[in-house]
Amino acid sequence: MTISRMPLSYHGLEVSQFIAGFWRLKHWGMSAKELLRFIEEIMDLGITTMDHAMVYRSEAPFGEALALQPGLRKKMEIVTKCGIRPAGFGPLGAQRTNHYDSSAEAIIESVEASLRDLRTDYLDVLLLHRPDYLMDVHEVAEAFARLKAQGKVRYFGVSNFSTAQFGALQNVWSDGLVTNQIELSPYRMEALDSGVLEQCATHGVRPMLWSCLGAGSLLNPTDAKGQRLLATLQQVREECGAASVEQVVYAWVMALPSRPVPLLGTSKLERVKDAVGAVDVLLTREQWYSIWEASNGASVP
Ligand SMILES: NC(=O)c1ccc[n+]([C@@H]2O[C@H](COP(=O)([O-])OP(=O)(O)OC[C@H]3O[C@@H](n4cnc5c(N)ncnc54)[C@H](OP(=O)(O)O)[C@@H]3O)[C@@H](O)[C@H]2O)c1
Repeated sequence: MTISRMPLSYHGLEVSQFIAGFWRLKHWGMSAKELLRFIEEIMDLGITTMDHAMVYRSEAPFGEALALQPGLRKKMEIVTKCGIRPAGFGPLGAQRTNHYDSSAEAIIESVEASLRDLRTDYLDVLLLHRPDYLMDVHEVAEAFARLKAQGKVRYFGVSNFSTAQFGALQNVWSDGLVTNQIELSPYRMEALDSGVLEQCATHGVRPMLWSCLGAGSLLNPTDAKGQRLLATLQQVREECGAASVEQVVYAWVMALPSRPVPLLGTSKLERVKDAVGAVDVLLTREQWYSIWEASNGASVP
């Protein structure tokens, strides 16, 4: 099956219904040729949107694979992130403390490094990776404006921002943010109550969701909550005829009215093929709430 594309926001950017995440790429042990094959195979399934971050160190190997087939670049959307400065980062590993840096200088330096490593001359979407307590929203907006005017970045968004942090930047960035990439899974449901999803819907943008499978832990639970959840997911899978528990999880997050776009984190083509089948899985409200209840440990009041 092939999945379709959908608007990420009213700004005109289209993305695939699932996004491929490359956080773990450095652990996959793939050669450039193997990675290129993986990219081509997921693109054949309709996954055209690729998620990176400067801090993942995924951009250089991805760029190396892309260099083997440069024509692929214009057929995909590249999302990457900036702003996290891990200890040891910088010239000669000079920095001692993990920190965030959303200064204009840091944003622009990060984009230049991403462009160089990805071997491309534009990014489709740049996200501020984490909210920076020292963020000056006016300075961020100026950096965005410069990068856009130079044709280096097409669209801008944020990740892990609260509603207030999103609102503060949205107020001064005249083009409007195109997403907030946040964590949501049946195990970690905080986003259902934080207002972030509703804020995205209000602004006409879709949230992107990371770690929908709890980084794999939903399939291999280690605590009572996880075991309860897996049993319920298995029961719902049987009831609705989904091919896998993973499909039930993706159907559960995609049922939300803010119409989120899930990120996949797997290195296995078979798991990607299975995941995209979730577009045909429809849960009843009762099934959806049974998963919520298994996570919450008690029913809705
Ligand atoms: N913005 C942010 O702050 C942020 C934070 C985290 C992640 N992200 C993005 O979101 C993407 C997805 O996050 P994620 O990787 O945590 O997603 P995830 O889908 O929750 O977890 C993927 C992990 O689960 C494993 N897995 C998948 N199916 C499994 C199964 N049936 N049994 C056991 N293990 C299984 C995968 O291993 P295999 O490779 O073996 O399948 C992989 O290690 C990342 O790549 C990154 O792009 C963003």
